[in-house]
Amino acid sequence: METIEAIYSRHSSRSFTDEPVTDWEISLLLKAAQCAPVGHGEYDSLQITVITDREVLVEINEKTRFSSASSPIYNVPLLILVSAKPSALARNMHIASAACVVENMLIAAADMRLQSVFLWGFVERLKNCPELVERLGIETGRLPVCGAGIGHAVDGLERKAPHRIDVSYV
Ligand SMILES: Cc1cc2nc3c(=O)[nH]c(=O)nc-3n(C[C@H](O)[C@H](O)[C@H](O)COP(=O)(O)O)c2cc1C
Repeated sequence: METIEAIYSRHSSRSFTDEPVTDWEISLLLKAAQCAPVGHGEYDSLQITVITDREVLVEINEKTRFSSASSPIYNVPLLILVSAKPSALARNMHIASAACVVENMLIAAADMRLQSVFLWGFVERLKNCPELVERLGIETGRLPVCGAGIGHAVDGLERKAPHRIDVSYV
């Protein structure tokens, strides 16, 4: 797929099948992540955690659930969590950097005809589970920021229509 088509077709999916993402696909997603722009080039402030273990995914789902009705990670077969150490050089820059890493993976996923969702909401509650964060191997000083949920979704591959963001020309 052309890059521009991957960008145009990416959209959020929130209903995934059990079909796993292959190791090869994961390796390409990670390569895309490693190519993301990162503020001040502080790549060593970031950490990527690839989670495919069903039991761990269920545990994250349970522990970060807001109400009994909603699943914050939508039963994704693959959750790639990006954690970051706040930069000493610019406030909140680590959040933008982590988001760039996630977006690169979402576009790469679209290119491979995988569906995805940017995940932010569950992280706030994950941060309140220090024991789980430790078991995920997130190093001290790095905080979970956001994640990519990726898999094969029940809905289609194509986005319905682009969104409208205000644009002005000067
Ligand atoms: C910073 C950020 C945080 C987001 N957090 C979540 C989230 O926690 N859960 C979710 O289902 N979608 C989340 N999304 C996805 C947006 O809701 C979605 O991208 C937006 O509604 C546009 O729809 P589209 O992705 O289908 O184009 C997030 C997106 C961004 C950029």
